[in-house]
Amino acid sequence: MKIEKATKKDLKELDKIKGCKMPKLHISRLEQQKKRKAIYFIAYEKNKPVGHVFVYLKGNENYHSCPTLQDVFVKETERKKGFGRMLMNKVEQKLKNLSYKKIGLDVETGEKWLKKFYESGGYKVIGKIHQQTWTQKDSGKKMITKVWHLEKKLR
Ligand SMILES: CC(C)(COP(=O)(O)OP(=O)(O)OC[C@H]1O[C@@H](n2cnc3c(N)ncnc32)[C@H](O)[C@@H]1OP(=O)(O)O)[C@@H](O)C(=O)NCCC(=O)NCCS
Repeated sequence: MKIEKATKKDLKELDKIKGCKMPKLHISRLEQQKKRKAIYFIAYEKNKPVGHVFVYLKGNENYHSCPTLQDVFVKETERKKGFGRMLMNKVEQKLKNLSYKKIGLDVETGEKWLKKFYESGGYKVIGKIHQQTWTQKDSGKKMITKVWHLEKKLR
């Protein structure tokens, strides 16, 4: 697997990975990347797009203190083949190469197996449960969730 910074030419591929059209979401992420606030990685396996992950370099919540992953995502037909784990390893390596010392992410409290998945990859829960509110870019729907914040040291 290789991961690269997504560009406008990847918009169709990002929709294919997601399995639905979310142009506003992808474009807003590319804009954040242009402002150097974030990196939007797209993952390819044998030249086929299989996943993506968005990284806010300074996080996007007041309790974030390091690059924070958002929307770690593997195309539905490609799941449970090890790509999720590979994508995490690749993005961690990229951030380490950029001299970041740690990396964080938020997991919804209802997603027990996901929390275990990240913990088995070396992430540890930091602090208490946080409530997040945001608006989905494409549907305009307001969302409220409860999350654990996890971090991992990059050595
Ligand atoms: C989370 C996600 C990226 C994992 O990708 P994946 O390619 O299926 O993951 P892998 O094949 O590398 O599997 C990693 C581990 O998780 C386990 N796993 C994967 N899907 C699982 C599921 N639905 N339920 C329980 N365990 C699961 C695997 O068995 C594997 O365990 P192991 O390392 O002990 O063998 C993928 O399920 C996804 O895109 N989900 C939708 C988006 C999402 O919820 N993202 C997380 C945001 S915090």
